[in-house]
Amino acid sequence: MKQNKWDDHYARLAKKEKWLARSVYKLQEIDNKFKLIHKGNRLLDLGCYPGSWTQYALKKVGNQGVVVGIDLSKPDHRLSSNFRFIQADVMSLEPQWLTREISPRDVVISDLAPPTTGIGATDTSRSISLARKALEIACVLLKKKGNFVCKILEGEDTKPFRSEASGYFSQVRLFRPKATRKRSREVYLIGLSFDGCPS
Ligand SMILES: C[S@@+](CC[C@H](N)C(=O)[O-])C[C@H]1O[C@@H](n2cnc3c(N)ncnc32)[C@H](O)[C@@H]1O
Repeated sequence: MKQNKWDDHYARLAKKEKWLARSVYKLQEIDNKFKLIHKGNRLLDLGCYPGSWTQYALKKVGNQGVVVGIDLSKPDHRLSSNFRFIQADVMSLEPQWLTREISPRDVVISDLAPPTTGIGATDTSRSISLARKALEIACVLLKKKGNFVCKILEGEDTKPFRSEASGYFSQVRLFRPKATRKRSREVYLIGLSFDGCPS
């Protein structure tokens, strides 16, 4: 029987362990390695649909923590009473609106990804625009010493983006989790211990 190309080890495991998507294993590996998320944290999940990162984050922050998720698409499942979903295009979110609607965050995570066109340069440039917006949002909402993670497609903008982020965090790393599909150019930028952004 021909195997569905998406039906890999992580997809089967996610189904068995009742996660909403296989991408949960990327966040789990990042969090295990860099210790980003802690009990009681207030966390923002950008590009949260269908919800596996949110599921993981809710488990880590526990009952005392809170998670806000933003996406163009509304999750199909009710995830928890300490989860609030905002249906929005992140590119349209202004600092004033963000500070009015969302309290300061200990952690900002972003798995934002544009619909892929298959044209390398277009996909990379859309991905970096979303990553820059995620960093801009983190600059508005992250508490001092907070942590950040965001997805990017590797390309010519990766280096300048990393340099920019390096000015805002004590430590910045690029990391490719094991669950990333072999042919993907996806990588995660991790920012540890936020120092603040220039105003
Ligand atoms: C790879 S998926 C996220 C998967 C999610 N982390 C999970 O584990 O379930 C990327 C998400 O980014 C969202 N997205 C892309 N562009 C967006 C935008 N401009 N505003 C809000 N969400 C966006 C898509 O709707 C999609 O749900």
